[in-house]
Amino acid sequence: MTDPISPELFLTDAKKAWLKHDRFGMFVHWGIYSLAARHEWVKNFEEIDDAGYQKYFDHFDPDLYEHKEWARRAREAGMKYVVLTAKHHDGFCLWDSKVTDYKATKTPHGKDVLAPFVEAFRAEGLKIGFYYSLLDWHHPDFPIDKYHPLRNRENAAELNVGRDMKRYAAYMRAQVTELLTNFGKIDIIWFDFSYPGRTHRDMPGKGRDDWQSLELLTLVRKLQPDIIVNNRLDLETDALPDVTTPEQYTPRTPPLINGQEVTWEVCSTFSGSWGYFRDEESWKSPEQLVQILIDCAALGGNLLMNVGPTARGTFDQRAIDALGAYGDWLKVHGRAIYGTTRANYEAPDGCRFTQSGNRLYLHIYNWPFKHLHLDGFAGKVAYAQLLHDASEVRWIGADADPHFIPPVGETTLTLLLPVKKPNVVVPVIELFLKDA
Ligand code: GLC
Repeated sequence: MTDPISPELFLTDAKKAWLKHDRFGMFVHWGIYSLAARHEWVKNFEEIDDAGYQKYFDHFDPDLYEHKEWARRAREAGMKYVVLTAKHHDGFCLWDSKVTDYKATKTPHGKDVLAPFVEAFRAEGLKIGFYYSLLDWHHPDFPIDKYHPLRNRENAAELNVGRDMKRYAAYMRAQVTELLTNFGKIDIIWFDFSYPGRTHRDMPGKGRDDWQSLELLTLVRKLQPDIIVNNRLDLETDALPDVTTPEQYTPRTPPLINGQEVTWEVCSTFSGSWGYFRDEESWKSPEQLVQILIDCAALGGNLLMNVGPTARGTFDQRAIDALGAYGDWLKVHGRAIYGTTRANYEAPDGCRFTQSGNRLYLHIYNWPFKHLHLDGFAGKVAYAQLLHDASEVRWIGADADPHFIPPVGETTLTLLLPVKKPNVVVPVIELFLKDA
């Protein structure tokens, strides 16, 4: 691969150090699809045309809009930054864009919902990010393709006549200019997504030439020099993106590009949808939610966890409970996550490590009976405690009476645990190492 793009267009490690430190953010998917309440892709899934989708625009009126409460709940859940869908694939805009009428201010609600959101989350101390969809299933210049709701119309090719991708790319630049000019300092822009080569009925997918990705990135950098730009613009470069975004899974090993470790952030949902989905039932348990965050931190990555607010402008009780699971756990385990790095050590079975200098955090997923053997740790630990209540954890070594513990090797340190699992979702033992 060649490198036609100036490395200056990407952030240095120092400029994005805050992201790695903060580890945990909130994704918010909110738009007129929230009224359908059956996935933000409903227009695509059900192949709904503009006329059929109009009812959601005509009834968008989040009269309870609880943006301040959302922001408070995000902070209480331990989230340090937020990324809001300013525009999703359906093309609907949450702010008062000057280049379209397809926006919140033209709905019955009649008001910009993005500016108050930004203000509320900033007031709670969170950094601000915008998600901006590259796809647009409403814009008349956006050519129908594999993902467009009209993709299977008999006359799709005909409908594409006159649609002008260059005009659409200019529209995107105008919108991104608004988003990155009118709302103060923006910390993240999250473009979604590219699919070059995915042809459907002779209609090509879209990538960097269609979006004019280089122009877009250059513009973004000019407007907000320190902003973090995600990796979905399909840029042709050897330079590392500011952040790589594995979706709906946790990596087994730290993601690499050209053999180099990258800054990365998993995005994930509480249930099986990003937008509010009333009847979806696959909500993750508190253990799963907390473990996804630990899994990411243990490999040196971030988690952007999504909430899909309702069309009234509220968080569903299930989302409130899920956020609570994070808040309860992080309130006492925060220092095992924020500012930690991938550990220099291999964790025992059913456990994860995170590390902060000479403090090693042992996250225990499967609470064992009495003994937890740390091979290779004999003589290395100065002190150990359960993190949630700072209660001492004692240990024994190879010299212990074999009548009471299974025989262990010379280099093993065996932690003596209470028989009963402490009453926290994932217990953590803080090991103070003699040397990091
Ligand atoms: C996918 C989906 C989209 C969602 C995004 C978040 O790309 O298209 O609906 O916004 O994932 O990563």
